[in-house]
Amino acid sequence: MANLYLKHLIAALLSGIALILVGCQSLNNQPDESLYQQLGEREGIANVVEDLLYLIVDDERINQQFKGMDVAQFHRNLTDQLCELSGGPCTYTGRPMRELHSDMGITDTEFNALAENLILAMERNDIPTGAQNRLIKALVTMYPDIRNL
Ligand code: HEM
Repeated sequence: MANLYLKHLIAALLSGIALILVGCQSLNNQPDESLYQQLGEREGIANVVEDLLYLIVDDERINQQFKGMDVAQFHRNLTDQLCELSGGPCTYTGRPMRELHSDMGITDTEFNALAENLILAMERNDIPTGAQNRLIKALVTMYPDIRNL
């Protein structure tokens, strides 16, 4: 009798431990998800970049800088760049950042305006806030090249 009770107790304990382990694993899965996946892979990134382009065109603080640019090329290259930067299977094949932006005289206000529009574009595409912050953090490494410092 006591033996049977002990058996049940052990079985209950083991299934409890199993449940805790499964719980921990599913909690862990979220932070482990790559930034690329959180952004919705290349298709999700392409949608964000499309919305970013609409926002740039409407933004008086920066739209002058973009006059006459090749919209399709910009869309493709920025999408590839963000895809690669976020750990996705893409390769950015455009010109280097410093070379591209060197004669634009980009100010801090303009840099921040673009970052703000990117955040708005991500909001419109329901990108989680944590992923938004991770992408912005990754872009900050390009700041000296874009500001030509
Ligand atoms: C983190 C910030 C930025 C990133 C990641 C970024 C990225 C890029 C990329 C990948 C391209 C190449 C697109 C192409 O091949 O056509 C590009 C081009 C360009 N960027 Fe940026 N950029 C940033 C900030 C800015 C800012 C703040 C401005 C101006 C306000 C700007 C203005 C331009 C313009 C006008 C072009 C087109 C250049 C050309 O066609 O010759 N960028 N940028």
